Amino acid sequence: VGSHVPSRVLTNHDLERIVATTHEWIVTRTGMRERRIAAAHEATSDLAVAAGRRALEAAGVQPADLDMIIVATITPDYPFPNTACLVQRQLGADRAFCMGLEAACSGFLYGMETARCYIAAGMAQTALVIGAEKMSAVLDWTDRSTCVLFGDGAGAAVLRPAPAGRRGIISSVFGSDGTLSELLMIPAGGSRRPATAETVAAREHCLRMRGREVFRHAVTHMAEAAVAALHKAGLSIADIRWVIPHQANLRIIAAIGERLRCPASRFIVNVEKYGNTSAASIGLALDEAVRDGRIVDGDLVLMVAFGAGFTWGATVMEWTG
Ligand code: UT7
Repeated sequence: VGSHVPSRVLTNHDLERIVATTHEWIVTRTGMRERRIAAAHEATSDLAVAAGRRALEAAGVQPADLDMIIVATITPDYPFPNTACLVQRQLGADRAFCMGLEAACSGFLYGMETARCYIAAGMAQTALVIGAEKMSAVLDWTDRSTCVLFGDGAGAAVLRPAPAGRRGIISSVFGSDGTLSELLMIPAGGSRRPATAETVAAREHCLRMRGREVFRHAVTHMAEAAVAALHKAGLSIADIRWVIPHQANLRIIAAIGERLRCPASRFIVNVEKYGNTSAASIGLALDEAVRDGRIVDGDLVLMVAFGAGFTWGATVMEWTG
């Protein structure tokens, strides 16, 4: 695994100078203290490449060994070509086929499962999965209810068949509900409402969210997906060493902990440092916890995500490293 965040830190106190908010409100309602913001010249693919390089290095894999690259993002460099092709070019991974994946905050888990299926089907041996976002590029910096919540970053993983006797990815469950798409979206700039001077003036090319409703669905679906993935794996929460939830809000994470009856000490949490980095969030938290020695060889890890769409999912794996 590998990750990368831009060097510029935007604190809650910095945000107090941009919108009518306070450090106290943001900490109490979300647990966030700061987030990273990419430079004007940095695009999502640049963050993805840096995270991807670290993951390749950690895995001892050369770019030429890669059969496939998946980049999960809702902030691609361009509407097309897909960001994975741009990552391939920078990495020099000539043999890989490349695809983008749009599942918002669930993107990293959807990407892991897609790669797992290709590997299990014998269609790929070595895959690079990256979740990367430049959320700062799609935020309405006049909307205090959203602009304080998100940050930029990237998380990556190299996937290969599990070594003999090891379980690797044990179970996954996924779900979606397109009937609630309007609760979290970018209303304009796509084919339904192409960008016009009017849509840009109304900031309709920026993220819009009905936070309270999204919160409720996030807790319900993440808790249910976690339970379903555990059941499918034939495990109970007591068997799980670490839970890595999507980092959208500390209160959502606490509510999931309560529903799963799992103490906070077994959750990997970094929302205070990075805010919600959407598709990057779980990969970024996984990488940090592996590098600082919390997650060690043989640990059973439960990852659980929820995002726009709505999309959600949970994966149980035995960490091998
Ligand atoms: O990644 C995909 C999943 N995303 C999520 O899961 C996000 C889910 N939603 C949330 O995390 C929370 O709903 C928020 C953090 C977005 C909002 O927290 P909340 O406790 O649901 O607050 P609220 O939206 O009910 O707003 C409460 C009050 C409102 O004022 P009134 O109407 O009570 O006077 C807002 O106008 O807080 C106000 N408010 C703010 N005040 C200071 C909203 N944003 C801010 C702000 N600073 N930044």
